[in-house]
Amino acid sequence: MFSAWCLLVPLSCALSAVPAMISSVSSDVSVMEGGNVSLFCTARGKPEPTVSWRAVNHPAKKYPSGEQLDIRGIAREQAGEYECSAQNGVSAPSTKTLRVTVNYPPTIREMKFTRSALTALLRCDALGAPTPAFEWYRGSKRLTAGHGTRIQTLGSHSWSWH
Ligand SMILES: *[C@@H]1O[C@H](CO)[C@@H](O)[C@H](O)[C@H]1NC(C)=O
Repeated sequence: MFSAWCLLVPLSCALSAVPAMISSVSSDVSVMEGGNVSLFCTARGKPEPTVSWRAVNHPAKKYPSGEQLDIRGIAREQAGEYECSAQNGVSAPSTKTLRVTVNYPPTIREMKFTRSALTALLRCDALGAPTPAFEWYRGSKRLTAGHGTRIQTLGSHSWSWH
């Protein structure tokens, strides 16, 4: 009886502390600006781990703890990687990251016109996510490259020469 008791005590002590481990985290998500998004991060361990969140790009911003993080009316600046961290003091925290993409419609930020003796150069800068596609028009007529017109697009900028 006595020896069995001695064997059981270390066993129960070993089982009473289990390192925090994230068992599942939501997939990367895309949301329209102004929309709501819920992120999930489930953790196991003994004692019960605390799940906390941080935006990797904005480490100073505070988010409430919990397995579900609700972000309402998301702004484009809140796009990026989010990290959930589960800790219960038994070992180093367990962490996982996911990416939140915030889409918003394109807007033209700047339109520039430069004329020299021989050419006219137009430059258009636009913001949008995903990166906008550009189409050039003169009046209602779509401009295409060729016949003295050149068009070049690089990321959020597009140029046309005539
Ligand atoms: C976001 O959540 C708020 C509050 O729950 C709700 O009033 C609003 O309609 C939601 N917005 C969208 C785009 O679902």
